[in-house]
Amino acid sequence: MKAIRLFQHPCILWVFACLIPGLASGVLANDDFQGATHMMPFEAETIGYAQKIDTSRLAQLQAAINEGQAILEFKSDGLGYLISLLHHLDIPTQSQVLVFSKTSSQRHRIAPATPRALFFNEHSYVGFVQGSNLLEISAVDKDMGGVFYTLEQDPGKKPEFVRTDQCLECHASSKTMGVPGHLIRSFEVNEEGIVDLITGTNQVNHRTPIEKRWGGWYVTGQHGKQTHRGNLFGKEAFIRQQTTPNYLGNLRDLKQFFDPSIYPHETSDIVPLMILEHQGHMHNFITRMQYEAQIMLHSYGHLRYLRHKVDAFLRYLLFIDEAPIADTIADSSGFGSIFTERGNKDSKGRSLRDLNLKTRLFEYPCSYLVYSESFRALPKRLKDEIYRKLWKILTGENNQKEFTSLTLKSRKAIHEILKETLPDLPTFW
Ligand code: HEC
Repeated sequence: MKAIRLFQHPCILWVFACLIPGLASGVLANDDFQGATHMMPFEAETIGYAQKIDTSRLAQLQAAINEGQAILEFKSDGLGYLISLLHHLDIPTQSQVLVFSKTSSQRHRIAPATPRALFFNEHSYVGFVQGSNLLEISAVDKDMGGVFYTLEQDPGKKPEFVRTDQCLECHASSKTMGVPGHLIRSFEVNEEGIVDLITGTNQVNHRTPIEKRWGGWYVTGQHGKQTHRGNLFGKEAFIRQQTTPNYLGNLRDLKQFFDPSIYPHETSDIVPLMILEHQGHMHNFITRMQYEAQIMLHSYGHLRYLRHKVDAFLRYLLFIDEAPIADTIADSSGFGSIFTERGNKDSKGRSLRDLNLKTRLFEYPCSYLVYSESFRALPKRLKDEIYRKLWKILTGENNQKEFTSLTLKSRKAIHEILKETLPDLPTFW
């Protein structure tokens, strides 16, 4: 009896938890940091999310429309404003990925025969649902993170992006690091697109093993022998996948599932999918660090308690614990080369957007979002700390075990690229 009561005491449980390796530091290898999924008080005064004025590219586009400097063109091909909106936001249509699980707000319209299309670049994400009168947009504001809008598909009205904080019901939760941000998930789904919650991965990012990804998503492009959960719906499909792995893998197009000709492209490509998964979580992490730093500076006037979070942030930024690629990946949409062309190249022609796709996603594993306005808008004291630690890792001075998977060759190349291409580095770099 006594023993049972002992175990029920939370402090005792904590002592035992600390004895289990991995839990001792409070962080498992693939996690961000302890408490990384807790909600941040972004409605409170310090962050003031609801009151803040959005300065994102979408807000700038609205201003340009209002002043008559930009015109959104409406097409009666079923896509409405979509193509023109993507054009004005500089989002390549080839970034298209298709999701058929009923996981987002317009679930009644989404199914394997009518997937939702998503498009993105480094500052905006756009969602298109067949037959819907709304386009959905999550814009990235440099201070606030994700800001959510709808655009009514009505050519009779002046185009107006309407900020809709109701989206936060899902887009600010434990699955987005507790801040307004981006979601990518993976579940087994039935023939209608309804998810089986117990089979799921709530937060897909570059650490998620390939075989667990893309449940509820279509996937085109080549991936060799490695398996994934894309293109599968209904029990039988999953059972057949057990005996005949990849019988719906390595696809060029999706014609066998639905008529893809209504969409801008007939693909939902593996390369944009993988980049989206890295980027969505990276954006959430940057927002989380922005909020953490603002709140800590406001409460204590220093950032000393952020040490472990900065380490975790650098682990994600540098792709430590990235899920390995076991067989060469190749896209079928042409997105890879469009994405790479947009890189900030150094004098040797290298950039952080160069893809590897043989053993890992990027040739030089350091996130290209270091160039983003969100990263650059992090409070100076936080950025100084990030740059100091990053410099130590890249020069090899920091040889902590957690970074040893980053080879000396990669460290040197990333260091050289950043020195030539990132404008606001401290002078000691
Ligand atoms: C019921 C939960 C839910 C609500 C409410 C919701 N979303 Fe989402 N959203 C998702 C999920 C889940 C995804 C990931 C893709 C998928 O499963 O469709 C997503 C993805 C997105 C994406 C792609 C990039 C990203 O940010 O993850 C955009 C853009 C988006 N939603 C916009 C919106 C907008 C705008 C609203 C409000 C009008 C909204 N969503 C409301 C669940 C939701």
